Amino acid sequence: VVDRLDDLVRLDTGELDRRIFSDQEIFDLEMKNIFGRAWLFLCHDTQIPKRGDFFEAPMGSDNVLVVRQRDGSIRAFLNTCSHRGNAVCRAEEGNVRNFMCTYHGWTFGLDGELVGVPGKSIFYKDKLDLSKHPLRKVAQLDTYRGFVFATFDETAPPLEEYLGATGRLGLDLIAERGDMVAVPGVQKFTVQTNWKFTVDNVFDYYHPQITHMSAFSVGLIPAPPDDFVEGGAKSDTGANLEVPFLPTDLHNFVVVGEYGHAISGPDQESLEVSAGPEPFAWRHKPEVEERLGRHGGRVAGHPHIFPTTWVTTNAQLSLRVPRSPDVTEIWWFSFRDRNASQEEQAASLDSQIHFFGPAGMLEQEDGENWAQSTLQTKGLQSREVPQLLKMGLGTSEVVKEDGLAFMDAPINEHAQLWTYHAWREWLRNPSWEELRERTIPRDRY
Ligand code: FES
Ligand code: FE
Repeated sequence: VVDRLDDLVRLDTGELDRRIFSDQEIFDLEMKNIFGRAWLFLCHDTQIPKRGDFFEAPMGSDNVLVVRQRDGSIRAFLNTCSHRGNAVCRAEEGNVRNFMCTYHGWTFGLDGELVGVPGKSIFYKDKLDLSKHPLRKVAQLDTYRGFVFATFDETAPPLEEYLGATGRLGLDLIAERGDMVAVPGVQKFTVQTNWKFTVDNVFDYYHPQITHMSAFSVGLIPAPPDDFVEGGAKSDTGANLEVPFLPTDLHNFVVVGEYGHAISGPDQESLEVSAGPEPFAWRHKPEVEERLGRHGGRVAGHPHIFPTTWVTTNAQLSLRVPRSPDVTEIWWFSFRDRNASQEEQAASLDSQIHFFGPAGMLEQEDGENWAQSTLQTKGLQSREVPQLLKMGLGTSEVVKEDGLAFMDAPINEHAQLWTYHAWREWLRNPSWEELRERTIPRDRY
């Protein structure tokens, strides 16, 4: 696979080989070279406030228990018993004094140390050294503004450095809203799709007007009233479809950062059609600018932290969890400001639930496209047809300011292409220095 990477992702022509969405060998390599090395989001600080609180989080093909320690620190270890591998915890979250494996009863402390073995003296003749068989820990764990991340790679750079200006900006956009706490209960559901479809869709401002036409028609997404554009789509009767495309002079502001992080969304400076609930970044522009710089203040879009953490403009964070080449779990973490009024908090939750997640109108519509797109990458003939990311190709001048690199262009597919470029470099498994070097945006990529 590594030898074929340049053919799988063609930056010059904007073409992808469809096999990358269903090939088991590629999936296995992703687990090893991407999810085995990257800093991965686990949960929010406020989900495990008390000692003994735990939350089970995915890290690539593994599941870890994130546990609040007696001294207030956080540790994470694999949820697999050091005896014969059973999961030591079956609950998704909760509070415990210790973890007892339900198979033979080996018991582990909050710190993952093996503290109890049934029949230790009778059956093992006291020859088992308990200190040698703790639950296996992650290599590094750290938090950024309450967001807990971990990596299996002990040589990975510090979390803040990994996030870079682009990744930090995403988390800042939630943290800056107030005294933010995670709403209890993570919404989880499964889509029959490859994880990369769920990721590149984050940056796709070309699809809403078609995919989410029903959301426009019921007013969930207010359409710009007098800006219907004949978009080239035709109904089955042959009539031209009037599609409420975003105004053509609207610029999509794309920020790309090292390691594959990216942000894409309407540039608020070119956006006058502020219909519906005003995005946070617009409402608080002066404060956001003060903290994040002029360009940070312009972001009204969707920051994405490579590989699978997406921050929405609605104080939500979504984790795309790859389970196999064609099965992805979608996890939704919603946040609320503890100091906002009851009405404001209720309204915020209501909008969070109705946009995304299992009850969200948008993601059900997206999910059907992703599932079909994945299915069609499996056909012997179908998979020979390249996947296209040509929009805006060759117009990708990069401007660097405020530690961010950005491209200012109308609706385009730069951020998707950037993500696949980074994906390809990760799969080559270079050193961290090389990886950073190859994924720093140049004048043109
Ligand atoms: Fe856990 Fe045996 S597998 S105690
Ligand atoms: Fe969508």
